[in-house]
Amino acid sequence: MQHRARYRPEQGTGPTRFPDRGPLPTFEHPPRAPRHRCARAVSSPLSRPMSVSSTPASVDPTRISDLPALVGSTVSVSGWVQHLRSSGKIAFIVVRDGTGTLQCVVPKKEVSEGTWEDFGKLTLETSITVTGEIRADARQAGGVELGLKELVIIGPSALDYPIQPKEHGVDFLLDNRHFWLRTPRQVAIMRIRHEIEQAIHDFFYERGFLRVDTPILTAAIGERAGLFATEYFDEGNAYLAQTGQLYGEAAAAAFGKIYTFGPTFRAEKSKTRRHLTEFWMIEPEVAFNDTHANMRLQEDFVSYLVQRCVERRPAELKELERDLSKLERIKAPFPRIDYTDAVATLQKKGSAVQWGDDLGAEDESLLVEDYDTPIFICNYPKEAKAFYMKENPADPRTVLCDDMLAPEGYGEIIGGSQREDDHDKLLARIHEEQLPVEAYSWYLDLRKYGTFVHSGFGLGLERTVAWICGTPHIRECIAFPRMMHRLHP
Ligand code: 4AD
Ligand code: MG
Repeated sequence: MQHRARYRPEQGTGPTRFPDRGPLPTFEHPPRAPRHRCARAVSSPLSRPMSVSSTPASVDPTRISDLPALVGSTVSVSGWVQHLRSSGKIAFIVVRDGTGTLQCVVPKKEVSEGTWEDFGKLTLETSITVTGEIRADARQAGGVELGLKELVIIGPSALDYPIQPKEHGVDFLLDNRHFWLRTPRQVAIMRIRHEIEQAIHDFFYERGFLRVDTPILTAAIGERAGLFATEYFDEGNAYLAQTGQLYGEAAAAAFGKIYTFGPTFRAEKSKTRRHLTEFWMIEPEVAFNDTHANMRLQEDFVSYLVQRCVERRPAELKELERDLSKLERIKAPFPRIDYTDAVATLQKKGSAVQWGDDLGAEDESLLVEDYDTPIFICNYPKEAKAFYMKENPADPRTVLCDDMLAPEGYGEIIGGSQREDDHDKLLARIHEEQLPVEAYSWYLDLRKYGTFVHSGFGLGLERTVAWICGTPHIRECIAFPRMMHRLHP
């Protein structure tokens, strides 16, 4: 897969200070209640010039997403200057407020001299309030534009605003993440992330799962990846949670079907496009589900998330130039491939992988190239996976687990397994992995007092967002990414 390492501005980068950016993104929002019309419509805007100080604090500001319902009214909208252009007789300001963009038309003859002068002072990202009549215009974002009557500058923006409409390197953009977030592509990614988060809660809520918030400071380690440790009073080391799963298992015995949704931490010295040191994980755990039921839940879940974005976020996916046909075909069931067969296929394709190895990113890409939906790779060798996975009765060298690999080379988005429910086998694995048994006594207790078949999985949120958005690197899929060499901003 091609890795676009540089940020592409939306449109041309001509010599002017404010080159024309072409069509602006639109965002779908349900129309707001008409009370805004009453609250903010200004009957005679020139007789009541707007200024920030005169805005009654108790009135909700009108948002750009409200405007399609306000054609014909005179309204005030606050936001930031995204784009400016002028012919000398007529000027255009494109304002964004986070809910959309609005083109304001400023005919020199129809505004006061002061307003025209203020227009001349505008720079990119100046915060302003514009007042004028909302007119229908099918060519504009949201189908409306504003005929400007009044302009109030709230906060000027220095001419050296870091993000200009030209190419910037990714490191520069990450150093300026607090501004980069304002650009249309980043707004689209964050809205899709938000849609996925909401869809996750809806999916589990509709199916009777209980959400459980598990601790972030932990003593029991779940995964093999690196740990962030901190001193914890007289209790020794505490670790930032790599997973909520172990607690999820205890909760499944209490509530039956649960999921966790929280930040997880891995001190991984991997500088790949798939690794963050802080990422968000969703971990369902279900009592009496075996590995097959676990995979059915995973494929239903992932299909639901993808179709939700296709249905509800077409404008954002368009902004990202995502090929919708590739997402529309993501429907359960997904193919299941045994690890042993996957290794044979990989060796035929020229990979050096040996039975027993975990699969690397390149191997995963080779496996998915024959499919256009996610695939499951099942039943990995014990030594390649975590201590808690259940031994496969049909082949005790392996465990009852699965990795779900996303198509188009996006790699592993889910790791799941049936859990070892036999006390002595689990204890033996804890010893083999040289884990401190005392930290797991409560976890072992779950196998002593009414042990139960149970399974679960963890979906990496940022990797899922990256795949759905078609973004090569997951650093754009979280507002403020944390990576090995990045702690600021
Ligand atoms: O496969 P992993 O390590 O599985 C677990 O943590 C299990 N406890 C889950 C469970 O069974 N409840 O991680 C699960 C997923 C991966 O498939 C990947 O999508 C994501 O978490 N992930 C990462 N995402 C971003 N950066 C990292 N460093 C990640 N490590 C794992
Ligand atoms: Mg994994």
